Amino acid sequence: MTLDHLFRGAVRRALLCLLLAPALAFAADEPVALQGDVSSAEEGKMEGVVVSAKRADSTISVSVVSDAKGHYRFPRGRLAAGDYGIVIRAVGYDLEQPVTAAVGGKPARADLRLKKAADRVSQMTNAELMVSMPGSERDKRNLLVCVTCHTLQRVIHSKYSAEQFTTIILPRMQRYVNQSMPGAPQVRKGERVMEERGEDRIEIYKEMGAFLASINLHDRDNWTYEVKPFARPTGAATKVIYTEYDLPRPLIQPHDVVLDSKGMVWYSNFGEQNIGRVDPKTGAVKEFNVGISKPEFPTGILALRNDREGKLWLGNMYQASIARFDPATEKFNFYRPAKEDDLPSTQLNQVAAMNSGVDGKVWAQNSGFAGVHRFDLATGKVETWAPFKDTGTVHNIYDVISDSHNNAFFTDFRQQEIGRIDAKTGKVTLYTIPTKGASPRRGSMDDRDRLWFGEYRGHKIGMLDTKTEDIKEWTVPTPFSAPYDVVLDRTDHAWTGSMTTDRVARLDIKTGKFTEYLLPRETNIRRVFVDDTTPRPTFWVGSNHGASIVKLETLQ
Ligand code: HEC
Repeated sequence: MTLDHLFRGAVRRALLCLLLAPALAFAADEPVALQGDVSSAEEGKMEGVVVSAKRADSTISVSVVSDAKGHYRFPRGRLAAGDYGIVIRAVGYDLEQPVTAAVGGKPARADLRLKKAADRVSQMTNAELMVSMPGSERDKRNLLVCVTCHTLQRVIHSKYSAEQFTTIILPRMQRYVNQSMPGAPQVRKGERVMEERGEDRIEIYKEMGAFLASINLHDRDNWTYEVKPFARPTGAATKVIYTEYDLPRPLIQPHDVVLDSKGMVWYSNFGEQNIGRVDPKTGAVKEFNVGISKPEFPTGILALRNDREGKLWLGNMYQASIARFDPATEKFNFYRPAKEDDLPSTQLNQVAAMNSGVDGKVWAQNSGFAGVHRFDLATGKVETWAPFKDTGTVHNIYDVISDSHNNAFFTDFRQQEIGRIDAKTGKVTLYTIPTKGASPRRGSMDDRDRLWFGEYRGHKIGMLDTKTEDIKEWTVPTPFSAPYDVVLDRTDHAWTGSMTTDRVARLDIKTGKFTEYLLPRETNIRRVFVDDTTPRPTFWVGSNHGASIVKLETLQ
């Protein structure tokens, strides 16, 4: 986006707000496509039940949430005429019988009767399982690694003994790269695997193995603990509408989702060498092959980010490059680190090009050695920082984000530091997050140069004001929320998602109040994105293990 674009964007936003303000204010009177009441014998009318409608011939499903009276309603504009299948999400409950509804003509009605779920445990989110199970805080924190690739359902339903976990299962998991998931495992190459890590690692596996065999079905038919569900959404958290777009193959992992300047939706595929484009009007998907440069190494793309000129930038992970993609010409340009930095462990996951207009340079990180690269786009010159090289402690530079002067800020996922690299002098400054072991993961810079980031092990939203150097933190209410990434919208709400709760949390930074929106189904959330050009900010996210893109619009 150029300044001109930004200005036009602001005018467009203002106009849209004026035009749509009355319509939104009277949203309750909007014509209805489909509505009904949700109830059960146990609770009577039920609030906070997510109701999803999908036409058999469509890849798009739309979901709303029942209000305090147990009533749900789909606005007319959201469901085209046709026959819809209805499903619900309410932990502990299933639909009494399958429900379909014919939409078109006058408002359709479908009252939904729920019954106790036959298998309540399988409906639980990772966080509900973690809260319910016995074990120390440390035991449970270790499970935050497992949810990178699959839910804890797989773990608690297994029958392995402590010994089997220690000697077979955990070493097997360790060998998979992070973009693995059941059905699409990929093995580490040239990185230190368990056998080379020695006795320390084996001790850790022993401790974890004993714990894991205490929470699964080893030697028993039922769990030794009762699973306790979280409360369903209430009040503001029910004023929401979700649109979910299915991707064409179940093993596509839409890790990062961004919108381009034309409103098209783009995702990076975490496990394969392609990115995809979704037309939000039709749901049509087109994939673009990124190509392979290191055939013997794992495939997959992590970061996908915009610059201000309408180009997309991606982190090509083990293929050891970053790339610029032009949505207009559909062409990629690749940038690679220097030969001596292209090692078997080299992994370029993140890229920061938002402020490359300042000096013609783009930042990237390298997980291979906790490094940061800066690419000069005109000359091809690459500079490299390895700020922790001789410290003797373990660090993982996870994300890199630029401010308006194109200084770089990075998160240290293994610790609780945010680093700054001065664009002019190259000097590195470290800021310590008050929460010990916070594990800052990914983040974004707002237009006042405040860095917002997810504290994965601190369960908080963090903010570093890069001008005053103050750090503020807000705890996400749902336990074990493990925020991955944070973005601030233009109305001063900070948004984050979770790999454990299936909830999207919105923080009002003025009042400190959170609203947590329960998504229609299991959703492993990574990067979060907000479209600030809509009358109300629209939230977008990929369902990393669910092969779909989810749009969330608040109704108040
Ligand atoms: C890097 C990705 C990754 C991580 C991290 C990971 N897993 Fe897995 N896991 C997989 C894949 C892929 C499969 C399916 C293939 C297989 O069984 O090896 C799997 C399967 C499993 C199974 C079923 C195995 C079977 O034979 O039935 C268990 C149990 C399991 N994982 C436990 C764990 C636990 C516990 C953790 C965390 C300590 C963990 N996993 C972390 C990728 C991972």
